[in-house]
Amino acid sequence: MKFFIDTANLEEIKRFKQLGVLDGVTTNPSLAAREAGDFRQLIADICELVQGPVSAEVLATDADRMFAEARELATISPHVVVKLPTTREGIRALARCVDAGIRTNMTLVFQPLQALIVARMGATYVSPFLGRLDDIGHDSMDLLQAIRDIYDNYDFMTEILAASLRHPLHVVEAARIGADVATLPPAVFDRLLDHPLTDIGLQRFLADWKKARG
Ligand code: G3P
Repeated sequence: MKFFIDTANLEEIKRFKQLGVLDGVTTNPSLAAREAGDFRQLIADICELVQGPVSAEVLATDADRMFAEARELATISPHVVVKLPTTREGIRALARCVDAGIRTNMTLVFQPLQALIVARMGATYVSPFLGRLDDIGHDSMDLLQAIRDIYDNYDFMTEILAASLRHPLHVVEAARIGADVATLPPAVFDRLLDHPLTDIGLQRFLADWKKARG
């Protein structure tokens, strides 16, 4: 499973890049709005830093303007993946992006048929928002499993990008189901390697060594 980071903050991206397991970045308008400066330059800087897929989302809600924005975003860097909402207009924009060779990440997916349709149309990524489903009392992993099962029945090229992850167990469950990518908020990325027994074990090893060998 590939790891993307779900932030538009350059310092956070730099910090996680140092770990050596960062494959890409996802942003959305809420995340980008927190950062100062020009959006286009921000996406260019992220692409330069990561050298992997960087999702940048359109703001328009009609297909014509979505596609115009998509074309503009795609000129920033070959690493840009254009994020489109999975609405009727988004689907129409997706078809045009596919024809134009623009890579896409279909976002705000909450049910399996949305995922089936965008895969049939040739989306590069599909982003089920797992945490937001759990927030309203659903079991988000049912959705992820349904999408995995459907995709495994066919020869779709679309990668499943598990999004809106809230805690490390979401990452474990997404990996068990076979999500191709998990996009992690920095707070979740930070906790991927933590276990108290690892820290206690290391302290004991070093204390024993010191006691015996001075
Ligand atoms: O990648 C999608 C993600 O940003 C949404 O996460 O936590 O706002 O539901 P959240």
